[in-house]
Amino acid sequence: MQLFLDTASVNEIRTMWEVGILDGVTTNPTLVAKEGRKFEEVLREVCALGVPSVSAEVVATDTEGMLREGRHLREIHPAIYVKVPMTAPGLKATKILAKEGTRVNMTLVFSANQALLAAKVGAAYVSPFIGRLDDQGELGMDLIRDIVQIYRNYSFATKVLVASVRHPVHVLEAAKIGADIVTMPYSVMEKLVQHPLTDIGLARFLKDWEKVPKG
Ligand code: G3P
Repeated sequence: MQLFLDTASVNEIRTMWEVGILDGVTTNPTLVAKEGRKFEEVLREVCALGVPSVSAEVVATDTEGMLREGRHLREIHPAIYVKVPMTAPGLKATKILAKEGTRVNMTLVFSANQALLAAKVGAAYVSPFIGRLDDQGELGMDLIRDIVQIYRNYSFATKVLVASVRHPVHVLEAAKIGADIVTMPYSVMEKLVQHPLTDIGLARFLKDWEKVPKG
């Protein structure tokens, strides 16, 4: 399973890229706005690190606008995936962009039927938002289970990118189900690395090492 960071912070991306556990990055307009920096500048810096998959979202809501923005974004760097919302104009734009060879990440997906449509129009990734479903009392992970099963049934090439992740249990459950990718905030990726027993164990080993005769 691939691990992505859901952030537009170049510092966060650089840190995890250097640790060596990062497979890609997803951004959205909210995350970009938080950084207070020019979008394309951020995208160029992230791509220059060597991150192989960087999702950048269109903000147009009509097909023509999505096509214009998507074609522009894909020219920035070969690592760019164009993020398009799950709407009728978005499906239309995705079909055209996919035929042109652009890899599309269909976002704001909240049902298995929407995911089926994303696969049918040739999206490279589908992004179901599980945390936002959990927030309103639905089980987001059930959606991942359904999408993985449907894609297997029909051998769709579209990858399931689990988004709107809130905590490490989401990552664990997604891995057990067999999702292709999980994108998560920096704070969640940090928690994947850490365990209190690792820290306690290391401190004990170092303390005991002091008792070993040296020289
Ligand atoms: O990038 C899309 C998604 O991961 C957003 O997550 O936390 O705003 O629901 P969240």
